Amino acid sequence: MKRIAVLTSGGDAPGMNAAIRAVVRIGLDHDCEVFGVRNGYAGLIDGDIQALTARDVGGIIQQGGTMLGSARAPEFKTEAGRRSALDHLSAKGIEGLVVIGGNGSQTGAHVLSEAGFPVVGVASTIDNDLVGSEITIGVDTALNIALEAIDRLKVTASSHRRAFMVEVMGRSCGYLALMAGIAGGAECIVIPEYEITPEQIAEELRLSRERGKKHAIIVVAEGATYNADKLQAYFEANEEVGGYEEVRVTKLGHVQRGGAPGAFDRILATRLGAAATDSLVGGEHGVLVGLMKSEIVRTPLSEVVGRTKAPDLSLLKLAQALTY
Ligand code: F6P
Repeated sequence: MKRIAVLTSGGDAPGMNAAIRAVVRIGLDHDCEVFGVRNGYAGLIDGDIQALTARDVGGIIQQGGTMLGSARAPEFKTEAGRRSALDHLSAKGIEGLVVIGGNGSQTGAHVLSEAGFPVVGVASTIDNDLVGSEITIGVDTALNIALEAIDRLKVTASSHRRAFMVEVMGRSCGYLALMAGIAGGAECIVIPEYEITPEQIAEELRLSRERGKKHAIIVVAEGATYNADKLQAYFEANEEVGGYEEVRVTKLGHVQRGGAPGAFDRILATRLGAAATDSLVGGEHGVLVGLMKSEIVRTPLSEVVGRTKAPDLSLLKLAQALTY
């Protein structure tokens, strides 16, 4: 393999740049020419593909986001879109592709792989819902951003003896909310994988007041049945909730995605990007490169797509036991 390309797709994640850098430099080390595709699958369809040098990826390891740009590209779901992408790759003589992204991106990678084009995926999403990697690029940084917000909210909550609800991202996965709740010492954690009613949450708040706590923090996953909007509507319809006159709401949203990657994500992304390039050049493709028990593992894309990973619910029990 003499020409390979790399793209980032879906929601950006802190550490994507470190992965791009690793693909480019390890690719060059294998005597390949390496190309960067702009804006994910959209750039592949449009032929927005340029050669990258080792210097082009200098000074990006510490930056959040992705220097290549990212997009959600519904056109790639069409036969015409995929044909155009394959035509552009072939016109440039590109023989293999590294796809850095989460579930949707790896579904695209699988489709290309099934069409006979060599592709290797790199596990990257702040949601940590991808099968084939116990932790994905961006999770640790996003978690630390959420945690910093929770710590700050707890300070003001204590000063005013208030209850706060913090909504974190994660799509339909509760991993970020669960871990942020444990690390932030939340009084209540609401995730999609474990149903809890507004009445039960109110009861948790009442109990925490009774225990003499000056604050109450509820961490809510955006994908939970009762997300922040629904809980707020319930709380507003009730004069007081668990002894609190009101529950203030902070939605962290995209703030969690935009941070500079921490050491963990830079190292993880570097290892996964390098391993993906070794695989592609070495002829092992149609796989996702991820991390299991601190080791690099390769999982067939066919076993990754259409499935999602759920968080360990024993950790929710642990968090509940620690609210005393
Ligand atoms: O998949 C990453 C993620 O940040 C999810 O947590 C969130 O639900 C979604 O992307 C938001 O997508 P967008 O940036 O397209 O609004």
